[in-house]
Amino acid sequence: MRLLVCGGAGFIGSAFARQRVREHGDEIVVLDKLTYAGREENLRDLRAEPGFSFRRGAIEDAAAVAEAIAGADAVVNFAAETHVDRSIAEPDAFVDTNGRGTYVLLEAARERGLRHVQVSTDEVYGSIEEGTFTEESPLAPSSPYSASKAGADLLVSSYFHTFGTETLIVRGSNNYGPYQYPEKLIPLMVLNALAGDPLPVYGDGMNVRNWIYVEDFARAIGTVLERGEPGEVYNAGGPDECPNLEVVHAILRHTGRDESLIEFVTDRPGHDRRYSLSSEKVRGLGWEPRVRFDEGLERTVAWYRDNAWWWEPIRSGEYREYYERQYGRVLRVKGDRT
Ligand code: NAD
Ligand code: DAU
Repeated sequence: MRLLVCGGAGFIGSAFARQRVREHGDEIVVLDKLTYAGREENLRDLRAEPGFSFRRGAIEDAAAVAEAIAGADAVVNFAAETHVDRSIAEPDAFVDTNGRGTYVLLEAARERGLRHVQVSTDEVYGSIEEGTFTEESPLAPSSPYSASKAGADLLVSSYFHTFGTETLIVRGSNNYGPYQYPEKLIPLMVLNALAGDPLPVYGDGMNVRNWIYVEDFARAIGTVLERGEPGEVYNAGGPDECPNLEVVHAILRHTGRDESLIEFVTDRPGHDRRYSLSSEKVRGLGWEPRVRFDEGLERTVAWYRDNAWWWEPIRSGEYREYYERQYGRVLRVKGDRT
């Protein structure tokens, strides 16, 4: 297959590109704007692969999309602003990229009669105290991030219903693994623990997330791309659910640190309490997750420990300013009280 992979320099998109090139022999063009979260080094090992190419460009730029899409059989869209806390602080780019960007890609797919796979999230369903979301659950997003993703999903479905474009949506739960930007819970806590820095836990730490190893999610997307029914939505959740505090304790064990590093800080506004996904439908296409959380977390901690070349430039760049804005004051106030 010849694929246009949008957002392929990010965490999940690069795992997907690696899997498709190595295991399926696909030809891949990555189109990525290289925001703070997009890193060319995530694709460094694919550079020499025949059939792989990279273009820097934004999905909301129709001319850039038209150039990148030439010769493609399908579009897989990972490109998005993805961090909930940033969407609370500055929602602007979320509307542009996740909303308008998806529209531009849909237009390009419609004009050329291409399949469009939209990578979406369990957050579009909102929070669930008990039970599990299915693909029929109503959309009830809580944050500007999840609202922009829900809007994109509705637009994607409208292109199937209105124009007959072969659209598919895959909604994933919380991913973790190598190359995840350290603004997200697991890599942030791992790097802080390795450095002996405080671990900022929001609220009471009892919010529950459904963890999926990134390679498992990438395979679910490939399965839907190959065998999914146009117009359909597929949930892909991980095998394990876990409260944040347990995740943090497991990271402390893997890094040899003790719980004195934990700092309970002000909760995230509108913080969803629990996510839980039923993946029966995508299992019906022959997919199942292979990596349990304990094993995946151990692998992930080991990867960050062994790959300082990847995270050192991040921790000393834009991320430092972001971290100061997001955590500096609250952690300083806590520190002053002790
Ligand atoms: P990420 O932030 O690591 O990567 C996003 C990528 O998109 C980056 O490479 C960035 O440069 C690129 N990008 C951003 N704006 C762009 C634009 N306007 N044009 C082109 N490229 C642009 O994100 P991720 O965690 O890899 O998430 C990928 C997709 O999966 C997103 O759509 C996200 O909503 C979805 N998702 C993520 C998770 C998760 O737990 N991380 C779970 C479910 C779904
Ligand atoms: O559920 C899928 C979603 O998972 C994706 O769609 C998003 O792109 C991705 O960012 C992720 O969203 P979350 O908000 O669940 O992930 P995050 O890593 O930001 O937070 C996970 C949990 O940890 C959440 O309950 C908030 C908490 N948290 C997070 C950070 C960054 C903390 O307690 N402290 C922190 O410093």
